[in-house]
Amino acid sequence: MVSAAVILAAGKGVRMRSAYPKVVHRVAGIPMIQHVIQAVRAAGIRTIYVVVGHGREYVYKALAGINVEYVIQEQQLGTGHALRQAEAFLEDTSAVLVLSGDIPLIQADTLTSLLNQQEESQATATVLSTTLNHPAGYGRIIRNPDQSLQRIVEEKDASPEQKQIAEINSGIYCFKTREVFPRLANLTTDNAQGEYYLTDVLAMMIKDQHRVGVMLSTASDDILGINDRVQMAYCEAVLRRRKNIALMRAGVTMIDPGSVFIDQQVLIGEETVILPHTMIEGETVIGPGCNIGPSVRISNSKIGAQVTIESARIIDAHIDDQCNIGPFAYLRPGTRLGHGVKVGDFVEIKNSIIGEHSKIPHLSYVGDAQVGTGVNIGAGTITCNYDGANKYPTFLEDGVFIGSNTNLVAPIRIGKDSVTGAGSTITRDVPPGTLAVERARQRNIKGWAKKTKDDQEVTKE
Ligand code: UD1
Ligand code: CA
Repeated sequence: MVSAAVILAAGKGVRMRSAYPKVVHRVAGIPMIQHVIQAVRAAGIRTIYVVVGHGREYVYKALAGINVEYVIQEQQLGTGHALRQAEAFLEDTSAVLVLSGDIPLIQADTLTSLLNQQEESQATATVLSTTLNHPAGYGRIIRNPDQSLQRIVEEKDASPEQKQIAEINSGIYCFKTREVFPRLANLTTDNAQGEYYLTDVLAMMIKDQHRVGVMLSTASDDILGINDRVQMAYCEAVLRRRKNIALMRAGVTMIDPGSVFIDQQVLIGEETVILPHTMIEGETVIGPGCNIGPSVRISNSKIGAQVTIESARIIDAHIDDQCNIGPFAYLRPGTRLGHGVKVGDFVEIKNSIIGEHSKIPHLSYVGDAQVGTGVNIGAGTITCNYDGANKYPTFLEDGVFIGSNTNLVAPIRIGKDSVTGAGSTITRDVPPGTLAVERARQRNIKGWAKKTKDDQEVTKE
């Protein structure tokens, strides 16, 4: 049984042109190395060692809360040198899976077949290969006339004929630990890059009459390595396609999956329809029977069942069943909408709890508020929650009706079933069952329009 894996992730990734190590760049919403860790775990491997070096504090941060062990490679002297750093940790392990942190498309099935082949063949090592139409940049698999592996030649060391070979080294291997580590100590840097190549250990094993298997995989996408941001965008697209396919198979409708971007961790219930130009990010959970989109972006939010959302930005919010949101709504962190709430067009809500069946149909800002059930907030209402230094709360009790264009100057409480007159600036608490009006009495000045016109004519002369 292969029970441990080593993920090589100490390199800088020069071609990314980044201040951060390559493996922490996000692909489909999570650092690329997390995809690799997930696949290794899903293949049943319990202990994972990550070899870190360059920018390792960023790797620790990217993997905070994830159960892996770290092995430090101070200087990046090559893949063989990187694996060697893990020797002391693997003394009690009979076989080890080795792979790179920059292959986010890898899937558990591919790893499982490699582990099975290693197990069944009892080989000293097994390497995963595939054939590519454009093999440039990869190490090539050199086979003997009997098709057995002879060695792997890196692109930079390859002859023009060897460069024609389409079968490449995936950089994913299984090794018997007691056979690999002593040989790593004997690697040399006698090659075009002056590095300790892990690949050379296979040729050493073959020379010593050990059996080294090659598993030729047809899942060539799985092993694609990211070296630059163009390849990263390609992998992103593949992962998003896989996610959308999994969701559609699980009962989610997408009328244009190509314009829908859903992070890996997102969960969506059956019969929910995701309309075009929609992004669903982070730890978002969406219930069944919803209609989401077009033009919606949701991050880290919990959405109940049968919720309709159109043209909205939603961040760190909880939305209960049967709410209706948008078009053009902005729900900011701390928004909690109870069952059946309506949030209409050009409404912004922040850090507020809105009770069941309340309505904020148009053109309002609601911040730091607690709104009861069955409340109606008229168009143009503003909670004036900020005096330039501090934020204050607004309380609207059950059944309150806020007239259009009301300013609610917080801290303020409007009692149960009370009403505010349109255009009022409310600065004092309103007791229950009360009408609060605050505005100058209207004056109607007769003949004013004609008089003004006459005055203007006089001025012209
Ligand atoms: C390597 C293989 C090549 C294979 C390819 C597949 C070698 C010599 N070559 O080449 O045959 O086709 O992967 O993608 O192994 N790393 C360290 N420490 C180091 C050097 C590298 O941790 O000192 C890590 C890198 O961060 C990376 C991985 O090892 O995650 C692979 O290194 P990289 O330099 O990308 O190797 P390739 O040239 O792609
Ligand atoms: Ca690489």
